[in-house]
Amino acid sequence: MPGIVVVGAQWGDEGKGKVVDILTEHAHVVVRYAGGPNAGHTLVVGNEKVIVRLVPSGILREGTACVLAQGMVIDPQRLCDEIDELKKRGYQRAGELHISDRAHAILSYHRLVDGLREQTAGALGTTKRGIGPCYEDKAARRGVPMGALRDLRELRELAGRGLEAWKPVIAALGGTAPTLESVLSEIEPFAARLAPRLCDTAALVDEALRAKKTVLFEGAQGTLLDVDHGTYPFVTSSSAVAGGACTGAGVGPTRIERVVGLVKAYCTRVGAGPFPTELKDETGERLRKVGDEFGSVTGRPRRTGWLDLPALRYAARINGLDRIAITKLDVLTGLPKLRVCVAYETPSGRTESFPTSGLEQCKPVYRDYEGWSENISGARAMGDLPRAAREYVAMIEDAAGCEAMIVSVGSRRDETIQK
Ligand code: IMP
Repeated sequence: MPGIVVVGAQWGDEGKGKVVDILTEHAHVVVRYAGGPNAGHTLVVGNEKVIVRLVPSGILREGTACVLAQGMVIDPQRLCDEIDELKKRGYQRAGELHISDRAHAILSYHRLVDGLREQTAGALGTTKRGIGPCYEDKAARRGVPMGALRDLRELRELAGRGLEAWKPVIAALGGTAPTLESVLSEIEPFAARLAPRLCDTAALVDEALRAKKTVLFEGAQGTLLDVDHGTYPFVTSSSAVAGGACTGAGVGPTRIERVVGLVKAYCTRVGAGPFPTELKDETGERLRKVGDEFGSVTGRPRRTGWLDLPALRYAARINGLDRIAITKLDVLTGLPKLRVCVAYETPSGRTESFPTSGLEQCKPVYRDYEGWSENISGARAMGDLPRAAREYVAMIEDAAGCEAMIVSVGSRRDETIQK
């Protein structure tokens, strides 16, 4: 089974860390292909919780090569801090990363601009990690590829050019631009550490695929946050969908054999933007509390709501899902009635499709499902689940048009049904 993409089917935070960690048992290489330290993938091993932001979730498995591909934006200091933290916790392999020399570096002025914009009326609720401004520089062809860390003179020149371009923006936003010296002094100490890890990661991935090794492409964020296919402009700045694995990691579509969509049993969203099934009541609060729905990067409470099937059908189509992994099913335990959005009422009538515009005007049409009260965290096979939970899973499979290969019933690695 060579190329497998794992992609979020909602607004991110579907539980990618755990699922990628489980699937990595069968993978030789794990590749992050988009986004940067805006992601926060939570891994729970034993009683320990590890959150990785830049490092691929495969890092905890011996013998798995981890790749940060060119579709990513990387904050060198954060990456080094994350490696140090993982090593401190005993994951000595954390340093064994392959970093694309064509991924782009996030510098201090990117974070500054992101933060200043978030204080304006047009705030999107970003993670303020400099993601948007860094991708803007990349598209404007004045970015700083990670390869520049090999040559401090080139780094100075490129960072100087980037900084000059942002100065008027920073001033207009009421901020004070950093000096070039301070930008460089922040990044230079990490250049020497990361430079030996830089390489052509697309060639490395190709070599692995040719050798019939299993390569797992780990998506970040989710389909509805994708810059092309998400709820624009309330999206991130990268290609979070499955197709992003091809452009972001440099592999052709023919090399991808399977696309696994991650579907949380309910919906969440962080930051601004339309969310038709949002619950602003006690049930929403309960989902937040039981599901521990607080941003792993920013600590912000996540908005919570019922499962949205038009959105899931859309994600299945855009990504070409052929398997799903259902996460956090246990969080629904104890709710007597589960509502699921099956269609929308729009100003022009009822639709079962996910609209590409005007989502704000859509009102969900719900169908109610029976809940269950039994603790399901001990379930290891579908037959261990109560009937109502099995029916809920079957309903999700039906909407996605494919089978669930994993149903997660708790945060621990073993609290999982593998079909
Ligand atoms: P940015 O990616 O920091 O620019 O943020 C843009 C939007 O994407 C905001 O609404 C963020 O809350 C959201 N976002 C970015 N990364 C994640 C993630 O990993 N999980 C969930 N939401 C995210």
